[in-house]
Amino acid sequence: MADATTLAALRAAAFAAMEHAYAPYSKFRVGAALLTPGGEIVAGCNVENAAYPAGTCAERAAIGAAVVRGLRDFTHVVVATEATTPTPPCGMCRQVLREFSPSLHVISVTRSGAEAEWLLADLLPFAFEPSSLRDA
Ligand code: THU
Repeated sequence: MADATTLAALRAAAFAAMEHAYAPYSKFRVGAALLTPGGEIVAGCNVENAAYPAGTCAERAAIGAAVVRGLRDFTHVVVATEATTPTPPCGMCRQVLREFSPSLHVISVTRSGAEAEWLLADLLPFAFEPSSLRDA
């Protein structure tokens, strides 16, 4: 389990990423920060587009930023928003997070200090996973 100092740094990274969110259409800014078992932190923010479906969520932006650094194993993700209640990752992000870290801890935080935590396995039970492809 990550220590309190590391988790505080992860929260700070998620909020810092949220400041860079490009969300002119939804106005819903999101930052996400992934933690590796070695203590590395990689962040991402949502990046929207005038062609709405081309937009990307913060969690998937963070995954892309981590994978390009050679990081594919994560213990925690913190999702930061300005919502009043903590929001869980969308379904597509759950699937993308699941690819790399089935036992991920998902923590959602708000500016007002509200916080929620789930296991990804509870957010996405019966997942389609890499081994599912071998059953064909
Ligand atoms: N969004 C995320 O970045 N992560 C989520 O888990 C939920 C939604 C973004 C997508 C879009 O830019 C905005 O929030 C509103 O849906």
